[in-house]
Amino acid sequence: MADPRAIAASILKEVLRGKASLATLIPNKCKHLQTQDSALVRELCFGTCRFEPLLSACIKQLLDKPLRNKDYDIYALLLLGCYQLSYLRTPDHAAISATVGACQTLKKGWAKKLVNGVLRQYQRKSDLLTQQLQWWQVDAHPQWLAEQIKAAWPEHYQQILDANNQYPPFCLRVNSRFHSREDYIKLLPAELKNSTCHFASDGIYLEKAVDVTSLPGFDLGWLSVQDEAAQLAAAILNPAGGEKILDACAAPGGKTCHLLERQKDCNLTALDNDLQRCEKIDENLKRLQLKAKVVCADAINTEQWWDGTAYDAILLDAPCSASGVIRRHPDIKQLRKADDIGKLAHQQRQLLDALWPTLKEGGRLLYATCSVLPVENELLIAEFLQQTADAQVLSIPIEFDQQNNSDQAAHWGKSQNFGKQLFPNNNGHDGFYYSYLLKTAKNDQAKIRQD
Ligand SMILES: C[S@@+](CC[C@H](N)C(=O)[O-])C[C@H]1O[C@@H](n2cnc3c(N)ncnc32)[C@H](O)[C@@H]1O
Repeated sequence: MADPRAIAASILKEVLRGKASLATLIPNKCKHLQTQDSALVRELCFGTCRFEPLLSACIKQLLDKPLRNKDYDIYALLLLGCYQLSYLRTPDHAAISATVGACQTLKKGWAKKLVNGVLRQYQRKSDLLTQQLQWWQVDAHPQWLAEQIKAAWPEHYQQILDANNQYPPFCLRVNSRFHSREDYIKLLPAELKNSTCHFASDGIYLEKAVDVTSLPGFDLGWLSVQDEAAQLAAAILNPAGGEKILDACAAPGGKTCHLLERQKDCNLTALDNDLQRCEKIDENLKRLQLKAKVVCADAINTEQWWDGTAYDAILLDAPCSASGVIRRHPDIKQLRKADDIGKLAHQQRQLLDALWPTLKEGGRLLYATCSVLPVENELLIAEFLQQTADAQVLSIPIEFDQQNNSDQAAHWGKSQNFGKQLFPNNNGHDGFYYSYLLKTAKNDQAKIRQD
């Protein structure tokens, strides 16, 4: 089957049923396709997921009765057909005829008339339908998620939802062990427009996405793809030479590698409980010419992997709802369910509780998520601080200021009582949360109690 629309429909069918993510399905199903066809499959899948809640609400009004479960692929074809009509430049007649043709590839010739009829109706009425939906406040988000974001950030939620529906910017991290950012920019092809990140000192935005392997020095480890907000972790933790560092949820190793690029002489353990993802850490370390000890284990079961010597610093980039990176992973809109959030918060707290004893007195722990939901962030840290006598909040530094021999306070994100929240930003960084904690020494605790 080399019909991009039929392949996209078979991928979307799985995502809609919550079976797998685009990140797993697309590489698998596009293995044997020409580059142009796999690019079209990707565009159809990502775009359709991005706008699915809106497109579904329209299609429901155009269908006489819902399709049977076994015809989810036809439903997916309707979605991607409408997506093309509203958001792609493909001429309408070509989009409709290719989408109708895909019924045959899927061996469901009976559905041609239905798909043709729904798409033609959509073509005629899409403006009216979308207007009606806006009136009913249906946006391109699952209702529960839009409601949670609105409740948490009444002043910012519209900006967050809008940013979630955009194409993500393409952000690079320059490996400062080989080049300064300014020097690397000089190596980029002149026609590739770029700008430097405001907050991440190693980051560059490219005006358009490119095949990263074609950029100068990719194979030699001169650069990586990483969002600006994710690049802030290494600057905050700022490891010193000789320190024993744990990156507790490390795969695929984006932040592990950045920490080592900034400080090659630290003794870093990269831990993750997913074997396949651990292999990605190894690949990234190798390409970037860095060294760390990679361990595959459940961070919560410390007796399985900890040697008993406490860490100077820990990065806990916890598994989360990923509600701050929806524009990069739009299938979160289909895959994530409302009751996942409480389960994730429970897991995050378990990780924090398990790792805290492995941190030495005077050591620091950076808690990070790519979520905008306070239950995974500020509320979780508030409760942890209340229940953990030797935990204290540190202010988040941006960079060590050599001249003044002091840390400058970070000027990004929205300051919270116990951390900083970044919202996804059009043409800028993703949504992220950081809280920086200090483990106080026993003497300090006694002092705090006396005070
Ligand atoms: C947000 S991702 C980490 C991204 C990574 N820090 C980076 O910058 O490339 C969270 C990771 O946590 C891992 N994880 C989830 N539960 C874990 C556990 N109990 N122990 C260790 N790793 C876990 C997942 O496999 C996933 O790779």
